[in-house]
Amino acid sequence: AGSAVGLGNIWRFPTEAGNNGGGAFLLVYILCVVLMGVPLMVAEFAVGRHSRANTGSAFRILSKRRSWGLLGKMEVLAAFLILAYYSVVAGWTLYYAFQSLLNRFNVMARQGDSSVFADNFNSFVSDPWLPLLCLAAFLFATHFVVVRGVKSGIERSSKILMPFLFLLMVVLVVCALTTPGAAKGLEFFFTPDFSKIDSGVVMSAMAQAFYSLSLGMGCMCTYASYFKRDANITKTAFTVGLMDMSVAVMAGIVIFPAVFSVPGLEPDAGPSLVFIALPNVFQMAMGGIPAMAYVCSLAFYVLLVVATLTSTISLHEVVTAYLSETRNMPRRRAAWYVTGGSLVLGIFCSLSLGVLSGMTVAGMTIFDLFDYVTAKIMLLAAGFLTSVFVGWVLKPHALANELTNWGTLKLRCFSVLVFMLRYVVPLIIAGVFLDGLGLLNIL
Ligand code: TRP
Repeated sequence: AGSAVGLGNIWRFPTEAGNNGGGAFLLVYILCVVLMGVPLMVAEFAVGRHSRANTGSAFRILSKRRSWGLLGKMEVLAAFLILAYYSVVAGWTLYYAFQSLLNRFNVMARQGDSSVFADNFNSFVSDPWLPLLCLAAFLFATHFVVVRGVKSGIERSSKILMPFLFLLMVVLVVCALTTPGAAKGLEFFFTPDFSKIDSGVVMSAMAQAFYSLSLGMGCMCTYASYFKRDANITKTAFTVGLMDMSVAVMAGIVIFPAVFSVPGLEPDAGPSLVFIALPNVFQMAMGGIPAMAYVCSLAFYVLLVVATLTSTISLHEVVTAYLSETRNMPRRRAAWYVTGGSLVLGIFCSLSLGVLSGMTVAGMTIFDLFDYVTAKIMLLAAGFLTSVFVGWVLKPHALANELTNWGTLKLRCFSVLVFMLRYVVPLIIAGVFLDGLGLLNIL
């Protein structure tokens, strides 16, 4: 859950939902989590625990074929690329926590003009130095934890802090419902307009479901290689899926009322959406009591930093584990390569929102390109191949062993899972891909 809950839920989910028509997106997203996300997570857990190896080797070890090893390598590469641009946004959360600490949002709110929140964000991301500093700080924090070991520090603290984030989201939902844009926001988020569902929306929702559950990049597989023998994989996958989905849905309930309360802000504003709308929610809903606004805003951003850190750690760990286990490198040196490499790539992503904004590939900035290639291409391809692998290549008794270790998995549940992995998941992914290329005309 630490890996799964992060910026994907609170930042990327509302961004994608806003870009893809709100209610229609939510519906498809939930279907994707239940029908494809949870089975795939079970599959990744099974691969990880059965092979007891990092992602880069797990598929090769289980299939004894080199070609399947390539899937693992692609996943490691994807994790590395995601880490680079994800850390940029992670740096923003650090800056916002700092601004909350200095009570800057309250000062802005008192100016009475809500465009100051947008100006605040835009001038920050286009600054040539400040976001880079935040990016580096975040990457070093991640590096430090990965080198020191995940168990003692972060696992213990996130076990305490994550439930707080959850509780605070509940408080925020109540606050958001009192904002002037609440009715419009909820209508946008909860009323599906079926005519808006096309292959682009389905592809985005599917990618978002995988992204948010940390699938397709070996995080769940690498973590599962550390699972105990008696851990119940199916139950864990359901719990993580449910928690992750509820945080995302709550984020939507908080963001869209806020968006419709801020004049000039549209739900399809893109990556800046959350960072402009959120600080407003605190000030607006609790404007009467500045102390409350201060406490909530600070608590929220600090907890968001922690949630984000637990996600960047999982991404970093995938690449570090791969380098140190297969390239025979000491963990410490491997971790430095990963940190250094993602810092360099991250700098380009960050600058592409400011001084390098003129540099585009296929109409996308470097930042958007990273997101597109990793989430919509590599992640979906990995999901497809993983389900084919576990459904068709992995011996059924190996999967059954992983799933029945705690006793009573009903035979029926097992057959449903295998059916999903063999047919439903790969066919839906392939169908949406082909439809998007214009080769099928379903949607
Ligand atoms: N799931 C995380 C989030 O929602 C991000 C993340 C961590 C991730 N590991 C991943 C996304 C692996 C894709 C693949 O913030």
